[in-house]
Amino acid sequence: MAAGTIFHGTLIDAPTPRALRVRSNVYCVVTGGVIRQICDHEDGIRHEFRQLPPTELKGTQVLIPGLIDLHIHAPQFKQLGTKTDIPLMEWLQKYTFPAESAFSSSSHAELVYSKLMSHLIKNGTTTAVLYGSNHLEATKILADCCDKTGIRGFVGKTCADMLTPDYYVETTEGSLKDTEEFVKWCFEKWGSGREARVQPVITPRFIPTCSEKLLTGLGDIAQKYDCYVQSHAAESVDEELLVESQHPGHRDVEIYRRTGLLGDKTILAHCCRLKDAEAAMMEKTGSTVVSCPWSNILFARATVPIPRYQSMFPALKIGLGTDIAGGFGTMLDNMRTAILQDRVDSFATVNRASDVTETDVTAENWIMDFKYAFHLATASGAKALGLDDMIGKFEEGMNWDAVELDLAMDEYEIGGGGVDRRQRFTRFGDESIAELFEKWVTTGDDRNIRAVWVNGKECVDIASQ
Ligand code: GUN
Ligand code: FE
Repeated sequence: MAAGTIFHGTLIDAPTPRALRVRSNVYCVVTGGVIRQICDHEDGIRHEFRQLPPTELKGTQVLIPGLIDLHIHAPQFKQLGTKTDIPLMEWLQKYTFPAESAFSSSSHAELVYSKLMSHLIKNGTTTAVLYGSNHLEATKILADCCDKTGIRGFVGKTCADMLTPDYYVETTEGSLKDTEEFVKWCFEKWGSGREARVQPVITPRFIPTCSEKLLTGLGDIAQKYDCYVQSHAAESVDEELLVESQHPGHRDVEIYRRTGLLGDKTILAHCCRLKDAEAAMMEKTGSTVVSCPWSNILFARATVPIPRYQSMFPALKIGLGTDIAGGFGTMLDNMRTAILQDRVDSFATVNRASDVTETDVTAENWIMDFKYAFHLATASGAKALGLDDMIGKFEEGMNWDAVELDLAMDEYEIGGGGVDRRQRFTRFGDESIAELFEKWVTTGDDRNIRAVWVNGKECVDIASQ
């Protein structure tokens, strides 16, 4: 798509949690990475675009907004799918700090980060909010990998000046200095505007590994450079107890606030054990709850009551994350887990909490379905980043961050006479396109993904180069 193209086919997006928008047989003009026009008839295409080459999609090939993963630990990618047999705090000490400390080697960082990028684009993720390791050089490599792949990357050098083993801990001064250098380096390379495709994120690991001085210093840097901030909050019982022992009578969200780290560019992962007063504080300050459903169940044995939060705190921003490698899954897996966790959560809430009334289990404010999960992974994630006028759905003037799916890949004969399928789910041929898309969200996988673009450019598999 050098100068641009006119896609002719079906666009599917979810501007609200309740409505899947399926626009079939439309013409979508993209030039310079931006959607210039969407119209129903060829005759309606504006004159200046008529000479653009067409891209014809057949009936079951559809375009969806790229998936937005708001929480990934990049240096844990090699560990994905393994080693989740112990509680969070032990898991960090036994497996995760040793794995992350290996990123003092640049060649190791190159290897793991380029493979992570392939994994992300293969699974339809176009925007990733990433923790790096504590190392400045390796985190620059991570940002460069995002750039080379072409994805939208929000990248942080992780900061930890205490309760971290000697072989991995930083000094307070070193952590602050490297963070500021990383911010300046990113801004010089990719610009400091909101449209920059790679952006730095201030990244205190979580309250237990950060001194008050480090948190305050990071808060100052976030404000000086108007940066995004990412961290963890109210993740699990062991984390909560540790924070209580370090800061008696205080909790994560309020500590982020008093250290200048809580604002409308702050993204807090997990939030399973958030008190309602903390959710209210996050709503007021415009910060984001990132539910990482798979990881939350594994580590916290807990869930984030997303529909309940959205009815109680209508302005609270909520998105989804994989939490690689705390969870095993892709974004698609986490969309499904969000649906499942909602059922468990609603049931548990109603059974346990005394302050919940029966209205909490009406279909209207309770049922999460594939549409809602798709919305969380796209439009809602974009809103969390303050980029809902740029990405997450298809509107004129927005960027072309998109994934092409083929929802009906043909069956083919395999040796020995059996039939294999190029997709996981069975098609009977009489489903509507919305039903096929629902089957993909609930039971499909990456085999249906044909192409991935960010800003109109097809993403590149740098690991295979
Ligand atoms: N809290 C502090 N560090 C981590 C981490 O790496 N993963 C998760 N899930 N929680 C954390
Ligand atoms: Fe995490």
